[in-house]
Amino acid sequence: MIVLGIESTAHTFGVGIVKDEKPYILADARAEYVPREGIHPREAARFFAEHAASVINKALKQANVDFKDIDGIAIALGPGMGPCLRIGATIARFLASYYDKKLIPVNHAVAHVEIGLLVTKATDPVVVYLSGGNTAIVAYVDGRYRVFGETLDIALGNLLDTFAREVGLAPPYIVGSLHVVDKCAEDGKKFINLPYVVKGQDVSFSGLLTAALRAVRKGTKLNDVCLTLREIAYTMVVEVAERALAHTGKNEVMLVGGVAASPILREKFEKMVRYHNAKLYVVPPKFAVDNGVMIAWTGLLGLKHGVSVNIENSIIRQRWRIDEVDITWRA
Ligand code: FE2
Repeated sequence: MIVLGIESTAHTFGVGIVKDEKPYILADARAEYVPREGIHPREAARFFAEHAASVINKALKQANVDFKDIDGIAIALGPGMGPCLRIGATIARFLASYYDKKLIPVNHAVAHVEIGLLVTKATDPVVVYLSGGNTAIVAYVDGRYRVFGETLDIALGNLLDTFAREVGLAPPYIVGSLHVVDKCAEDGKKFINLPYVVKGQDVSFSGLLTAALRAVRKGTKLNDVCLTLREIAYTMVVEVAERALAHTGKNEVMLVGGVAASPILREKFEKMVRYHNAKLYVVPPKFAVDNGVMIAWTGLLGLKHGVSVNIENSIIRQRWRIDEVDITWRA
């Protein structure tokens, strides 16, 4: 079975092609919209529309397949930004109807988890999903990925990026393998007073962002603000993940999403899992960020278990939660 998957939820238009036998991943083509400021959804959508055809063709060429070889078209219908989702969905509906293929709805967050399991070989981890738009701790229990903690406002990636941009550290946001906030924190010497907000199993970063920006405006040394900001933010996430690990009794933790690449964050998680005799898996950056392969792979798992959708019902869902999806292939 071969599935082509399309990712277009935020800044990446990605097309992946996968097969249900080794080497699994046949193609991985992408075009990334890189904004100067935060993502402008309509501009990203225009960029996707302009690049879609060439990315699809590139993927087909890489995989050396034709549409006649493909069994299904998988599409990330959410969560994400409306204008961006609509471009991918329109193209996927067209391909499915024109070539008479099954259309497979994929939840973007579920796809982050599934590609992580494929590439890290973790089997049943507590998943820490950290990206520009998401901060969630999830784990598989009784047929679904249940949420064991999430952000009440902005995501961890958004916190770091917005702070960096507001104080003039970015763009670019990543230098070498480090986020500019991590880089700036290297010369931090002392901790300042910033809010640490964990409510039950949930985290909140917006007050931390406001307080950090206020501290910079008042003349506090930027390196000290960066050091405190990232120590507090990362520790909040580790705390919530640690409780989820203890509660579920699992013995694996997997980091996914763009922010998972941070070596500083990884070090904190290494210490925590060692304490619980658990194992840490980190999805490599190439597959930790948004890509079409994860959509194709999750679509393939779904299609093998009868998941598909009629074109009329293939609506996009900007706020489609991970815990609303039945994980039929694991049941
Ligand atoms: Fe993502």
